[in-house]
Amino acid sequence: MTDERAADSGFGQALNEGLLREPRQVAPKFFYDQQGSALFDRICELPEYYPTRTEFAILRQHAGEMAECLGAHADLIEFGAGSLQKIRLLLGALRQPARFVPIDISAEHLHAEARRLAAEHPGLAVLPLAGDFSAELVLPPPLAGSARRVGFFPGSSIGNFTPAEALQFLHRCARWLAGGGLLVGVDLVKAPALLHAAYNDSQGITAAFNLNLLARANRELGANFDLGGFHHHAFYEPRLQRIEMHLLSARAQTVQFGGERFEFAEGQTLHTENSCKYTVDGFQALARAAGLQPQAVWTDAQRLFSVHWLAAPAPFTPAT
Ligand code: AVI
Repeated sequence: MTDERAADSGFGQALNEGLLREPRQVAPKFFYDQQGSALFDRICELPEYYPTRTEFAILRQHAGEMAECLGAHADLIEFGAGSLQKIRLLLGALRQPARFVPIDISAEHLHAEARRLAAEHPGLAVLPLAGDFSAELVLPPPLAGSARRVGFFPGSSIGNFTPAEALQFLHRCARWLAGGGLLVGVDLVKAPALLHAAYNDSQGITAAFNLNLLARANRELGANFDLGGFHHHAFYEPRLQRIEMHLLSARAQTVQFGGERFEFAEGQTLHTENSCKYTVDGFQALARAAGLQPQAVWTDAQRLFSVHWLAAPAPFTPAT
């Protein structure tokens, strides 16, 4: 099995289980096949989608301070690396990074981007890892000569976990990155109208991104979703401080997939994504609960977005 197939092979089972649940739902990690990753890159350029350009501006403005936090000769791991755009800003400021390990579920996209980055930085060891960081992962052993392992998790992808899943992930980071730390981008709670616009763009790219999940099921799993029979539906849920994305059935219909038939009532949805928003204090409290130590936070002037440095304490070694 190629590593792409290995990384993606859970889609059929996850969709089947998700369609049997009430309410129906499937994890957002399945958005990112090649088409989904390309659509996400287009979302990042949309005028309404403020997170990418705001985080870029924060990284650009504070790359030097962030590089100080990460330290020299770091063994740098990026979670959900995507198009490797943001790491370029940090690499320019970091002192002699020892190695860069980008991790992403979309293997083909990851390998192509990693090759391009390696060509731009001939002195840097680039070791792409196709895998699912929302579960347990085996990281490559520390590189001889590297000072410590540090993580980079930009884009507020942590918001695509529920707070309980985010806590679990941060717990794993405290272990993986012990003695180093995590630099993580987190989208902030803000006026619902801004959030609504960001997830309901006027060009319909977010809708196409959402619907690509069904197109992917048709392509890869032989499902027969009628793409015209489902609508993109995204809204802010203030109680849970999150955007919810759904695919809403425009009429009563039956979908066949994996030898089973699934009835959709008119208005019934498949819940495809949560995008949780945090306050700075709320996110720092979550990080502390996971055993990490918030040491610095940077935001833009409008407080749309935040980037946190969370130190991961080294394991306690009793004196002999
Ligand atoms: C990847 N992730 C942080 C994006 C978000 O904003 O939650 C995914 C996305 N979904 C719709 N637009 C962008």
